Amino acid sequence: MSQINRRRAFTSLGMIGGATLFAGCKEAGLGVATAQSPAVPLWNYVKLNSGEVADRTYRMYPEGGCMYSVVGGVLGALADKVGEPFRSFPIEMMRYGDGGVGGCGSLCGVINGGSALIGMFHNEKPKEQREAMIAELVVWYETTPLPHYKPAKPEWANDAIPSISGSILCHLSTGKWCEASGCEAFSMEKKERCRRLAADGASKLVELLNHDFDGVPILGELTPKVQSCIDCHGKQEMGNAMVKMNCASCHSFEGEHP
Ligand code: HEC
Ligand code: HEC
Repeated sequence: MSQINRRRAFTSLGMIGGATLFAGCKEAGLGVATAQSPAVPLWNYVKLNSGEVADRTYRMYPEGGCMYSVVGGVLGALADKVGEPFRSFPIEMMRYGDGGVGGCGSLCGVINGGSALIGMFHNEKPKEQREAMIAELVVWYETTPLPHYKPAKPEWANDAIPSISGSILCHLSTGKWCEASGCEAFSMEKKERCRRLAADGASKLVELLNHDFDGVPILGELTPKVQSCIDCHGKQEMGNAMVKMNCASCHSFEGEHP
């Protein structure tokens, strides 16, 4: 395991020459090394129950917030099912994602944690599958009225009215909800909303991972509106905007687009 990790670390540091560092060792790639040591536990996904994971995420939220509970909900369920290596994953590190990364209001921890898990199970060099899965999660988050999850025993507020975030940025997503609910950003009602949203996110992620496990194609299509902007501003054409987030959350044109 440690050898694999070291080799992975070298690759991720961009040290392609890592192969020469290990000159003399026959195993050239991960697959070979793994085949030689079948006892090594692997970070492989097995199918989970999305409802159970949602409940678990809701329960865990008070210990560390959105990103922590999304990652902890999924990996905890995997640890129960298959044990190591999931049991040893340091989920505490994921507390940093709370409040859009340390309270900065940037990327929502539900997307950050969900994407980290997608990255765990799809860490391959071609990035298409990983990006498609992340896009699927992002579009769902931006366009779905959330939270949808209803806890058996609400702890911080009885209700959390759903709103459409329009953005994966914590600041904007929370702002939209505050507008819709009339509650303050630091209220218990808002914390309850984010707690349920984390449960929704973990559940959505598990559905996505289950589909992926079953070989259902995941297209990761953007909304037609955003896609139309990217058709002109993206890589193929003008190339002046590397972004898939909902453009309208920041760019609104009075009348005609220039
Ligand atoms: C048919 C192609 C096309 C489409 C579709 C399109 N744009 Fe543009 N966009 C342009 C062109 C051309 C410019 C002007 C570039 C310039 O003047 O340098 C522009 C300019 C912009 C600018 C800069 C405006 C400024 O004040 O400098 C923004 C922001 C922008 N577009 C966002 C969007 C968004 C968001 C969408 C989708 C709702 C979109 N565009 C759709 C072609 C397009
Ligand atoms: C989170 C906010 C945000 C989102 C979402 C966003 N943008 Fe922007 N965009 C900005 C800001 C801020 C600027 C810089 C504006 C400036 O410099 O005046 C910018 C600049 C641009 C420019 C001008 C670039 C240039 O150098 O001329 C284009 C084109 C653009 N965005 C297109 C898009 C498109 C297309 C999308 C959606 C796919 C999008 N943006 C999503 C915030 C955003």
